[in-house]
Amino acid sequence: MPGISTNSIHADQELNRVIDVVPPINVTTTFRYPDDPEDIKPAVEYRDAEYDPSTSRPIYSRIGHPNSTRVEKVLGKITGGECVIYNSGLSAFFAAIMHFNPKTVAIGDGYHGCHNILHLLEKNYGLKIVGLDQLDQLSKGDLIHIETPENPFSIVHDIQYYVTKAKEIGAFTLVDATFAPPPLSDPFDFDVDMVMHSATKYFGGHSDLLAGTLTTKDPNLKLQLASVRPFLGTNIANLEAYLMLRSLRTYELRINQQSTSATKIVKYLNEHKDSYPSLTKIHHSSLQKDAFVAKQMKGGDAPVFSIELSTPLKAKSLPSKLKYFQHATSLGGVESLIEWRAVTDASASQNLLRVSVGIENTEDLIADLDAALKQS
Ligand SMILES: Cc1ncc(COP(=O)(O)O)c(C=O)c1O
Repeated sequence: MPGISTNSIHADQELNRVIDVVPPINVTTTFRYPDDPEDIKPAVEYRDAEYDPSTSRPIYSRIGHPNSTRVEKVLGKITGGECVIYNSGLSAFFAAIMHFNPKTVAIGDGYHGCHNILHLLEKNYGLKIVGLDQLDQLSKGDLIHIETPENPFSIVHDIQYYVTKAKEIGAFTLVDATFAPPPLSDPFDFDVDMVMHSATKYFGGHSDLLAGTLTTKDPNLKLQLASVRPFLGTNIANLEAYLMLRSLRTYELRINQQSTSATKIVKYLNEHKDSYPSLTKIHHSSLQKDAFVAKQMKGGDAPVFSIELSTPLKAKSLPSKLKYFQHATSLGGVESLIEWRAVTDASASQNLLRVSVGIENTEDLIADLDAALKQS
């Protein structure tokens, strides 16, 4: 099987419609029907799932368009299954919840936006939300949502454990692997039902587009998701799909560099923590001792880590002492970011800073953090 970079550059070649080496940007929202009346078919109900918007002749860009189908082809190869692309990570999560339609969802801490979607469904339709330590409250058809590594600490959860429990109950497993996309980890090694990513992060990689993915091993399930997406109105937009394709060409180089660099930085900070007067904690998968971590993070650790300083003011002041880490939310881009997490996540400690490592020179990033932490 070709490697990730080969697929990133060539997996969509079979969908090429022109002689251009680089796919053109298609801005049209609507596409001409065939000239031959024999080729013009009446609509089918989406419930019949006979129409695959991602492989059929395009009709309307909310259903599918040339670059969204190319993106799905590449991301399917990278994520190891049949991929459906969305216009954000949260759209992908919402589509997964609409698909599984659970009465109860078990969820850990993780990204607050996913919790907010569940709270909306709790308020409107009585969805029950329980913790990952309350699996005894799940029944057949319910859902276990595992974010691993988990935002903002990059703590790894044992996917195998939750899959075993889910199978005993007859529940489904959805893994949000945004913090460790392949080759760092592959949740399908553990037989999960579905994997989601905020593709805004490492797949997009340049902090200039929003997208999300759902990947499944089951082609019929992919068809169902793709058939419902036009009615959720959540396909990736035309320009973003082009940008995503361009980003994916360099994806493997970026993710490997970001992961290696983050692990080196965490090691350095951990070894020198006595020189930093206000640093109280460092959180990262590379510092986690559980036996399952190495097996699950088979390709390297998450490129995100978090630190805690002794007071909220010290934490809030650290970003302005840094040269190469911009004070902003999000992660996964080529530029390193640091965020006083309380700005966007009401549940975060005010002592917490989340760091997203970009692709700058690792020694420069270490020197920058070292100098700022010595002054803090
Ligand atoms: C782990 C995780 N899942 C989902 C999302 C939502 O993704 P998006 O911002 O693309 O909607 C994020 C965004 O930060 C995230 O960090």
